[in-house]
Amino acid sequence: MLFTTMETERLIIREFEAGDWMDVHRYASDVRVTKYTLWGPNEEEDSKAFIQFCMEDQQKINRDEYSLAVENKYTGEFLGGVNIIFMGSNAEIGYCFHPDYWGKGYASEAASAMLKFGFEQPEVHRIYATCRPGNVGSSKVMKRIGMTQEGVLREHVFYNGEYHSSLLFSVLKQEYQTR
Ligand SMILES: CC(C)(COP(=O)(O)OP(=O)(O)OC[C@H]1O[C@@H](n2cnc3c(N)ncnc32)[C@H](O)[C@@H]1OP(=O)(O)O)[C@@H](O)C(=O)NCCC(=O)NCCS
Repeated sequence: MLFTTMETERLIIREFEAGDWMDVHRYASDVRVTKYTLWGPNEEEDSKAFIQFCMEDQQKINRDEYSLAVENKYTGEFLGGVNIIFMGSNAEIGYCFHPDYWGKGYASEAASAMLKFGFEQPEVHRIYATCRPGNVGSSKVMKRIGMTQEGVLREHVFYNGEYHSSLLFSVLKQEYQTR
């Protein structure tokens, strides 16, 4: 499906561009940001590789992954990123923001836009997201955008020498449409 730049109340959500790696690196190299992620903290090379990966994805004919940049519509500040991955009738979303902009509702606003984009695709029936159990901010975002917790994926991921659990949240198309 085609992604065209989205505008929300306060945000512009657009495709990543080559020059964005420095803005990405500012948060992706920050241990406050990567405390609960299964990547990072990034070296410069990691952030450059991420942007390269995104730009290659943009060229794919059967593209199923959309990693997108989030900017403040009024100031042009680079706030963070959101993504959505399509898998048939399911899609998964994620988000990551610079700590300077936490607690202002930006992640909830951007994640809501991803639900809109996702459910605009006729085949998408369920959109889900996961977070580590300690990631209170992320679980609040999922609840705020209308997701319901389905359960806990117990120690399903091995990373950095240990197993990690995830909280699993989702929203179904009919729930989204009748909000
Ligand atoms: C998780 C994250 C995206 C939240 O971003 P955000 O822009 O602060 O989220 P919002 O402002 O939309 O806040 C949603 C809610 O979470 C709360 N919140 C945000 N950060 C929080 C934190 N660190 N601890 C507790 N609550 C937090 C907000 O106060 C708000 O609460 P409310 O619904 O009661 O008003 C952000 O903290 C982040 O980028 N973290 C690092 C990357 C990450 O963990 N991504 C998710 C991977 S699963």
